[in-house]
Amino acid sequence: MTHLLEMRGISKSFPGVKALSNVGITLDRGEVLGIVGENGAGKSTLMKILAGVFTADAGALFLDGERFAPMRPGDSLDAGIIVIHQELSLVPDRSVAENIFLGHLPRNRFGAVRRAALDRAASRLLARVGLAVQPRTVVRTLGIAQQQLVEIARALSRAARVIVMDEPTATLTAAEKTSLFATIAGLRGEGVGLVFISHHLDEVFALADRVTVLRDGTVVATRPTADWSEAALIQAMVNRPLDAMFPPRQAAPGDILLSVENLSSGARFEDVSFSVRAGEVVGLGGLIGAGRTEVLKTIYGALPASAGRVRIAGTTAHPRTPRQAIAAGLALVPEDRKAEGLVLPFPVRSNVALSTLSSLSWLRMVLSPSRIDRVANDAVRDLRIRTPGIRQLVRSLSGGNQQKVVLARAMSTGPRVFLLDEPTRGIDVGAKVEVYRLINALAEGGAAVLVVSSDMIELLGLCDRILVMRAGRLAGAVARAEFSQERVMALAALG
Ligand SMILES: Nc1ncnc2c1ncn2[C@@H]1O[C@H](COP(=O)(O)OP(=O)(O)OP(=O)(O)O)[C@@H](O)[C@H]1O
Ligand SMILES: [Mg+2]
Repeated sequence: MTHLLEMRGISKSFPGVKALSNVGITLDRGEVLGIVGENGAGKSTLMKILAGVFTADAGALFLDGERFAPMRPGDSLDAGIIVIHQELSLVPDRSVAENIFLGHLPRNRFGAVRRAALDRAASRLLARVGLAVQPRTVVRTLGIAQQQLVEIARALSRAARVIVMDEPTATLTAAEKTSLFATIAGLRGEGVGLVFISHHLDEVFALADRVTVLRDGTVVATRPTADWSEAALIQAMVNRPLDAMFPPRQAAPGDILLSVENLSSGARFEDVSFSVRAGEVVGLGGLIGAGRTEVLKTIYGALPASAGRVRIAGTTAHPRTPRQAIAAGLALVPEDRKAEGLVLPFPVRSNVALSTLSSLSWLRMVLSPSRIDRVANDAVRDLRIRTPGIRQLVRSLSGGNQQKVVLARAMSTGPRVFLLDEPTRGIDVGAKVEVYRLINALAEGGAAVLVVSSDMIELLGLCDRILVMRAGRLAGAVARAEFSQERVMALAALG
């Protein structure tokens, strides 16, 4: 029997980086292959070669036993290979339906788009991925998780033989994951081969038939899922002993640093009140669309408040713009690093120092080049950012390493209140521990930290208290002593 897909002896180098060396994988009909590995291990690069985005320096691809050499993305699409990339690629100003059928919109014989047929077909696919939005909604207005589901609907709109999902669940909540998993089961039943890349090992265990571990651009091992334990998988990925996932923290809450009083922002959320003390890590949980990101952005002055106010200790004014927020001692790590976090064509060095530069120039001070170098080098070391150096362009870092640069930048401004929106999205197991350690260090150093996360285990492991939002309101709070997944879920779903 020939394999549906085989990639054999694949190597690929970038300037200063050997991303893949002699990598081989196979995929059969109706099979799910999990691929795991640390940030920068080469997972996305391998899939971009399959997608025709990059060409390999060496090696060969076979589809149904026949040599296949994609030179551009169109070649792979035509062969029925659909790769949903880690970095979303929707057209923000087009509708959901147009994005789903981009490149193959239904047209009448005069070449005009058949709107009604388009809407109907899009609605069917949206139902299949469990996304409750209208087909004519403009993509720009959707959250990142919803955009992810639109990408998946787009993949389903084509006749696929191979579907690759590169970190599809990084932002999805439990309900959305359930419908995604059902979709995957259906595709597998139709004989489609799937490649599933994720840092959520529990999902890999639930979905994959076999798992391949990549480390430093080489295959460590491929085994049937039943032959892997979670410990063995992590050991193969990181090849070093890992510390406890959630390092303990000395909780000694001090003065209130952030206080939010009856805050509303139009129809986005209403009447939200809470406070965070120095030394505290407070979680903001809830389903996607509950308004968590909007609360953070409103506190930060990036969305308008229609009522209520925000007070940062030591200042009287409610920050109305991000610049005022930074000056008041706030830092925001946004969930969408590409749109809001990073300047991709700039080097790691200036991305780490960016908001430092802007806040300091606001104070009419100048950072010396050697200070910037030090800040950037420290960040690369502390967060294990995989890069040939601080002068590397951020665009060429792996997804998870870009996320680490966003975190490093927020921390470099020396703020007292941190607003972290999905801080470990796309970050590997080993690096998560580093991020948790950093968050603990911030709190122990007297900062107040507010964390939005869709990862329940993360919220329970990291926080002193979890506030739960539901449909634009605070549904309740759970203190550490009463922590349980059931408590948080019940508040998130039922209020
Ligand atoms: N266009 C590029 N130019 C230069 N280097 C690149 C480019 N794309 C990827 N790399 C490098 O290749 C290596 C592998 O990156 P890749 O994106 O494949 O990692 P990954 O396993 O997908 O990681 P993550 O879990 O963070 O998404 C990294 O060191 C990355 O910096
Ligand atoms: Mg990747």
